[in-house]
Amino acid sequence: MSQSVSIAILAAGLGTRMKSRKAKVLHEAGGMPVVEHVVRAAKAISGGAAGIVTVVGHQADRVRTALAGHGIGFAEQTEQRGTGHALLMCREQLEPHGGLVMVLYGDTPLLTVATLRRLVDLQGSSGAAAVVITTELADPHGYGRIVRNVAGDVVAIVEQKAATPEQEAIREINSGIYCFRADLLWPLLGGLAPNPASGEIYLTDIVEALHARGERAVPMLLSDESELLGINTKVELAVADRIFRERKNRQLMLDGVTIMKPETVTIDMDVEIGPDTVVEPFSFIQGKTRIGAECRIGAGAIIRDSTLEDGVIVEAYTFVGTSHLETGVSAGPFARLRMANHVGAGAHIGNFVELKKTRMGAGAKAGHLAYLGDSTIGADVTIGAGTITCNYDGRKKHETHIGKGSFVGSNSTLVAPIKIGAESYIAAGSTITHEVPVDSLALGRARQENKAGWPSRRRAAAK
Ligand code: UD1
Ligand code: CA
Repeated sequence: MSQSVSIAILAAGLGTRMKSRKAKVLHEAGGMPVVEHVVRAAKAISGGAAGIVTVVGHQADRVRTALAGHGIGFAEQTEQRGTGHALLMCREQLEPHGGLVMVLYGDTPLLTVATLRRLVDLQGSSGAAAVVITTELADPHGYGRIVRNVAGDVVAIVEQKAATPEQEAIREINSGIYCFRADLLWPLLGGLAPNPASGEIYLTDIVEALHARGERAVPMLLSDESELLGINTKVELAVADRIFRERKNRQLMLDGVTIMKPETVTIDMDVEIGPDTVVEPFSFIQGKTRIGAECRIGAGAIIRDSTLEDGVIVEAYTFVGTSHLETGVSAGPFARLRMANHVGAGAHIGNFVELKKTRMGAGAKAGHLAYLGDSTIGADVTIGAGTITCNYDGRKKHETHIGKGSFVGSNSTLVAPIKIGAESYIAAGSTITHEVPVDSLALGRARQENKAGWPSRRRAAAK
């Protein structure tokens, strides 16, 4: 790319048709706010955040906050006085960059980086002052119509309200996405008069202004209109979400991931998954999750912001949040690895086991029905069914430490803070309140007593 590209993202609009209190560009599709997809594409095109300005207006502060991590600039448009006026808000920040200026909409998130690259390339090869992305719609009502001359250049964009009957019949519409030569755009934009009917400054009027100066505007006609889908309603939001999910699943499958019934599987954009991992139906893989090779993600599992090394098996209906599972761990079905857990290689977590802020050593096992919170569990420890760490005294959380190779019998109650030494045994049904030394058997339960003949004496007494 020879020319530098600065980018304006118009996102000041209200979006009343969302019927929401939230600005429309903040609604999520594909696991992130609609406008964030646009910002990411813009960064890919301009090679960083410098020279990207988002025009905010409605809920300006919330939009800024949502995009704060991206390092881009913002311009505020306090009154929505048209697309041309919105772009003018960026002039001060973008004019010094020179080169090319791309205009994107914050509510049109499906445009791919490949398409935007073609837009820049077409400007380069045509030398035109402006390139406009267009498409042909069966029903063009409501859009600006593209008026071409015999050479095929765009000589005007006529808005719906101003269109003559002949112009209304034109099916080629303006997407609102453009690439301009900065040296021509900024002075001409500054000189545009507001539309007499609406009082708004129409960015589309720039085309006629360029033409009047003998400069060319050329169309880039897209055959696939789906990339231009604008999000105005929650129906369109759902359509966009589905397209993002399809794109993501398709890319993963091309990279060697097996996805069963992909139309039911929801994977966020930043998720990474290694080859030969199998993803079963109705699962959700979210946030910054990274999954290795040859794993299996069971039906209905939810995995959020977690790292799964190679060969991990997450059985059906298991939740994994902000946790790290080393190689060969198996978890579930119906397990809950709530947050901040680290599970060592080959460890096993079975059904109805909950882990919270727990570190489990390699080869440790908790096969059934346990709560392990704020715990450090050594390698090869066996946690019996029904074991509970009593980590909360009503005021504070306390820790449980279990040394390697220990065996915790079923239905044990471990009252934290508590330490159990390595290679020890906890008898089933114990309530443990004192430290258990290394290599010891702890019994913390009432001793069993058998009373021979008691039932028959009772029966006799009842007669
Ligand atoms: C605009 C185009 C129209 C094109 C259509 C494609 C003009 C005059 N018309 O129509 O030719 O077919 O887009 O969708 O440009 N915005 C602001 N501030 C404003 C006005 C708009 O930030 O003052 C933002 C909106 O948030 C939105 C985008 O610009 O993201 C487009 O605005 P919208 O009102 O939808 O444009 P239209 O007038 O429908
Ligand atoms: Ca619109």
